[in-house]
Amino acid sequence: EKGGYDHYMRKEIHEQPESLRQTIAGRLDVDRGEVDLDVSFPPGFLADLEEIQIVACGTSNYAGQYAARLFEELSGVRATVDIASEYEFGAGRSPDRTLVVAVTQSGETADTLGAVRRANAAGARTFAVTNTLGSTVTREVDDTAFIRAGPEIGVAATKTFASQVATLAMLAVSIGRERGALAAADVRPVLEGLRDLPGAVQQVLDNENRVREAATEYGDSEAFFFVGRKLGVPVALEGALKLKEISYDHAEGFAAGELKHGPLALVTPDTPVLALLTEGGRADETMNNVTEAQTRGAPAIGCVSAGDEYGTLDVSLPVPDVGVAEPLVANVYLQLFAYHVANDKGRSIDKPRNLAKSVTVE
Ligand code: F6R
Repeated sequence: EKGGYDHYMRKEIHEQPESLRQTIAGRLDVDRGEVDLDVSFPPGFLADLEEIQIVACGTSNYAGQYAARLFEELSGVRATVDIASEYEFGAGRSPDRTLVVAVTQSGETADTLGAVRRANAAGARTFAVTNTLGSTVTREVDDTAFIRAGPEIGVAATKTFASQVATLAMLAVSIGRERGALAAADVRPVLEGLRDLPGAVQQVLDNENRVREAATEYGDSEAFFFVGRKLGVPVALEGALKLKEISYDHAEGFAAGELKHGPLALVTPDTPVLALLTEGGRADETMNNVTEAQTRGAPAIGCVSAGDEYGTLDVSLPVPDVGVAEPLVANVYLQLFAYHVANDKGRSIDKPRNLAKSVTVE
């Protein structure tokens, strides 16, 4: 059932080329610059739209943070991300000009359902991005887009994160195009990046041995810091969450520029820094921050756009050229790093202590 893999998590990491293919199948028209998610908004709704509020928990929240940056760039609408358990429909907002997007793999997360109910009560239009047909969230929202990642058994979300980001990116393009905010030529590079995602992820998976070696070399460190800028920030947060939940090691993600505002005090030769040094993530500026950590003795592992080179990195992991999708592809290295660190320690990878796949209490 695990298809020859020791754990569902590793199987699901390796399924990503195929699950991403399912996510985008029949939805992209690269030449015409169109996306078809089979949803239609009421006439005039998108033209008047003022704000997209994304609500989600955990890994789904990080997918939302990635997407919010794309929504702002591609659809010309202000986009915010709330932790679902913290969400309130605030004063000063107009519900009929707000789209609330709930991102939830299971469609059953109580905190996220609570946020959807608060949005509905305020009169906002609600939209679900979920993996699960017939899930509770689909019955509570106005519209749904399915991420089509297939069942995910491992408690740690892996392939569903990738498919969530890809689906949200398609939603951003379709809203941007329908609002007239974008020409076909503007979205072409984004759509090409999405189209090329499965192949790019496969190239990363083919490099698994390099990550495994890095995991073995650095896995016994005291703590791990993940840093990035722009689209690299949510991926840094996700990389840290994945490592902490399955290895039980201390890991934190930061915006790279924040390192010097406090966390640098924690940096020692026993705290590796993992950095997103790709397109969509201001690689050169991020590398400056990595160098600050290296000066304090920290080993540095970087996910680097193919063709670029930062000679001072201790480990350099190449990321194929897929534009704004590069941090998403780099995330696969971080998933493999978390997996191998945890596996070397003999952790209960598919069922980490204290955690459940679907959190149905608030
Ligand atoms: C982490 C993880 C959790 C979930 C969170 C939301 O690997 O799986 O952080 O992302 O519990 O779950 P869904 O997406 O089902 O709402």
